[in-house]
Amino acid sequence: MCGIVGYIGPRDAYPILIKGLKRLEYRGYDSAGIALLNEGLNVYKCRGKVADLEAFIHDKDISGTLGMAHTRWATHGEPNDVNAHPHFSQSENLAIIHNGIIENYQTLKEELINRGHQFSSDTDTEVLIQLVEDIIENENVELEEAIRIALNQVVGAYAIVIISKDDKDTLYVARKGSPLVVGIGENEFFLASDATPIVEYTKNVVYLDDEEIAIIRRNGDFKIKTIKNKEKTPYIQKLELNLSALEKGGFDHFMLKEIYEQPKSILDSIRGRLRPNGEVILGGILDYEQKIFNARRIIIIACGTSWHAGLVGEYLIEDIARIPVEVEYASEFRYRNPVITEDDVVIAISQSGETADTLAAIEMAKSKGATILGICNVVGSSIARATHAGVYTHAGPEIGVASTKAFTAQVTILILLALRIARKKGHITQSKYHQYFHEIELIPEKIEKTLMVNKFVKEIAEKYKGARNFLYLGRGYNFPVALEGALKLKEISYIHAEGYPAAEMKHGPIALIDEEMPVVFIAPNTGTYEKVVSNIEEVKARKGKIIAIVTEGDTAVRRLADYVIEIPETEEFLTPLLATIPLQLLSYHIGVMRGCNIDQPRNLAKSVTVE
Ligand code: AGP
Repeated sequence: MCGIVGYIGPRDAYPILIKGLKRLEYRGYDSAGIALLNEGLNVYKCRGKVADLEAFIHDKDISGTLGMAHTRWATHGEPNDVNAHPHFSQSENLAIIHNGIIENYQTLKEELINRGHQFSSDTDTEVLIQLVEDIIENENVELEEAIRIALNQVVGAYAIVIISKDDKDTLYVARKGSPLVVGIGENEFFLASDATPIVEYTKNVVYLDDEEIAIIRRNGDFKIKTIKNKEKTPYIQKLELNLSALEKGGFDHFMLKEIYEQPKSILDSIRGRLRPNGEVILGGILDYEQKIFNARRIIIIACGTSWHAGLVGEYLIEDIARIPVEVEYASEFRYRNPVITEDDVVIAISQSGETADTLAAIEMAKSKGATILGICNVVGSSIARATHAGVYTHAGPEIGVASTKAFTAQVTILILLALRIARKKGHITQSKYHQYFHEIELIPEKIEKTLMVNKFVKEIAEKYKGARNFLYLGRGYNFPVALEGALKLKEISYIHAEGYPAAEMKHGPIALIDEEMPVVFIAPNTGTYEKVVSNIEEVKARKGKIIAIVTEGDTAVRRLADYVIEIPETEEFLTPLLATIPLQLLSYHIGVMRGCNIDQPRNLAKSVTVE
């Protein structure tokens, strides 16, 4: 996510703003910028780190007691100097910084261009500030009212700060869907995306609510109103958390924070893509849809957790969209001289967008004429730039080495792709399509509900933290989930674990079963549920310890298992998004209990940029 900081008061703003950006670096970003109001409205910004920004402006005018600064996590527009924030309005009388996604920015941009506006960046943010200025000019209203009118036209999420060259005593802020905190000091105000940059100056904060605009003046006036022009009384809270806890949003580790972010990250992954008219639109690959629809075969290439997401994709696309799919480890694919033709579509999946094997596999497939699409989480990453087109997962920065929210976001994009292909190729009835479409919309709240098993999963972790081996078993859509659950446990707790198709157990692994062997079954009441129940009985007959992920209300498995973890009812193809959550939590708690380094496990890197 982007980072926002702002200041107005008697002190020089520059050192406070730069230090604030450094407090927010943990959020992940690709460029940084600052605006300072003194004699003029000075904006300095560049791609890279805060240190690069400091070097860039070391000889510039950094005076001013009112300012704002921003670290950008690119969602629209490559990470570069031009797309970095702050963005000027056309007159350069206004400047804005923004965290969020303006979904209808293209429509607004076209209207503004038709009214003579020119744009210098590819961002949705610049559209917003140009819209505000357009309203001031054409509706003859003041800045505060223009902001309110503009935000009523915006669809999407925003946390914004706006400064006007002509008003050296006011900061204008607003939020919807992205957090914004106001710190109240002695004759000074602080702004930030979270309380981390504020806590050292004041413990008195106001968390803006959605669709609220705050007008903050140097004389101490602090007014809040809604975008529907309703006055609100600021609710001042006392900060309790310390700095380290604040960076992790109050969680002990980034991994747990990111597990709990999944309702929002999946909402962001579908935002603007499940359209009110019932269409599924993946804008980034629209130009390649015919290639996809007519593909002889889809080849998914990835590594690690992303490969597991790709395996879910195979089940999804073949089952729902009826196109042959194969999933390849990129590290194997790149060297085995595969048969690839121009009728093949390759989909590369990568959270970091920098995995060396995946990048090399892309180049090899491209050289053989395949169409290459990407599913990445980092805008402008090497893999994103190496593909012909792609879809960003919009999961936000994933700091923990163990991939959690990126996995569910990747699966979400593959679900949308399968549904889009199925509908366009006529492989799904209207009623089934709308049934699936609606069920996808319910997933964020079903994940929220699934997260409520955390305390119970922690009890299970306490019971099995000493196990030397685990077996994870699943069938169909949840066979990849078994693999992913095993990988999570291995990389976070260093316990050996294997994932297997449940039916495969009889071909060897069943020899491992004894009273020391915890066996995790993914057993939702969908697909081959009865077969999985039989597999559970086979393990029970051999005194294996059974932990089962079941659909809420299940009774058959409850009679057999030592522990059952319930997930909400959903369509079979959506069960991986829910079943994964308890497995992420299980590996997390066992890892904590074993004293492992959760966010930086031994031997691992967040992005494997070497072979
Ligand atoms: C997953 O928890 C691991 N961190 C690892 O397997 C990871 O998924 C793999 O290295 C691929 O990374 P990517 O998605 O950034 O390409």
